[in-house]
Amino acid sequence: MNSPLISIAAPRSFVPSEYGEGPTELRSAPLKDIGPLLGLINDYAAKGIMLPRTEFEMAENIRDFTVIYAGSRLVACAALHIYSPLAAEIRSLAVDPGWKQHGLGRQLLESLEREAIAFGLRTLFAFTYVDGFFRKLGYEVVDRGELPLKAWKDCLRCPKFQACDEIAMLKALAP
Ligand SMILES: CC(C)(COP(=O)(O)OP(=O)(O)OC[C@H]1O[C@@H](n2cnc3c(N)ncnc32)[C@H](O)[C@@H]1OP(=O)(O)O)[C@@H](O)C(=O)NCCC(=O)NCCS
Repeated sequence: MNSPLISIAAPRSFVPSEYGEGPTELRSAPLKDIGPLLGLINDYAAKGIMLPRTEFEMAENIRDFTVIYAGSRLVACAALHIYSPLAAEIRSLAVDPGWKQHGLGRQLLESLEREAIAFGLRTLFAFTYVDGFFRKLGYEVVDRGELPLKAWKDCLRCPKFQACDEIAMLKALAP
C-alpha cells in the first residue's frame, strides 16, 4: 500500500507565469528546501500577511510540507499540521507572487486534503486573511472557539496576538 507521502506525488503540469511557461512538479519537501521555504514564507511575513518561521521550526516540521517546483525554483508551499486524531491545520500556504492565480494554491490544498483523508482525519482548518480563496476550496467561516485549543499555540508568539483579525475556517472531509 502506498504511504501518504508517495500518494501526494502529482503529474507534471504546465503553468504560464511572468517567468515564462514551464513544467511544475508537486512533491513533499526534503530538508534542503528549508532555505527557499523560509524565503517564500518570510517575505510574506515581513508584509504582515503570514506568521514568520525560523530554520529550527522548519526542520522540526519539514514532514508537514508539500512544495511545488517550476524547474529548479520553489514557487509554492503549504503544510498539513496534525493536531488531534481528527483535525489538522493548513498552514504556511504561500504562492510566489509571479505564480499567483494559476491554480497552484488549489493544487496544494487538494493534495493536502487527499493526504489528510489518507491519514483518516475528519476536518481541516485554517486561520487566514484570504477567506475568498478558502471558500472556493469548500471551507466555511467558524467561530475560533470551535477549533482545538492546541491550535492556539502559534498565536502566543504572534505579533497580532492581542488584536487578531485572521478568519477561522473549517472544512469537513468526506469519510
Ligand atoms: C492565497 C494564495 C495561496 C492563493 O494561491 P493561488 O495559487 O493564487 O490560487 P489559485 O490560482 O489556486 O486560485 C484558486 C481559486 O481561488 C481564487 N482565489 C485566489 N486567490 C484569491 C483571493 N485572495 N481571494 C479570493 N479568491 C481567490 C482564484 O480566483 C481561483 O478561483 P477559480 O477556481 O474560480 O478560478 C496566494 O494568493 C498567496 O500565496 N497569497 C499570499 C500568502 C497568503 O495569504 N497565504 C495564505 C495564508 S492562510
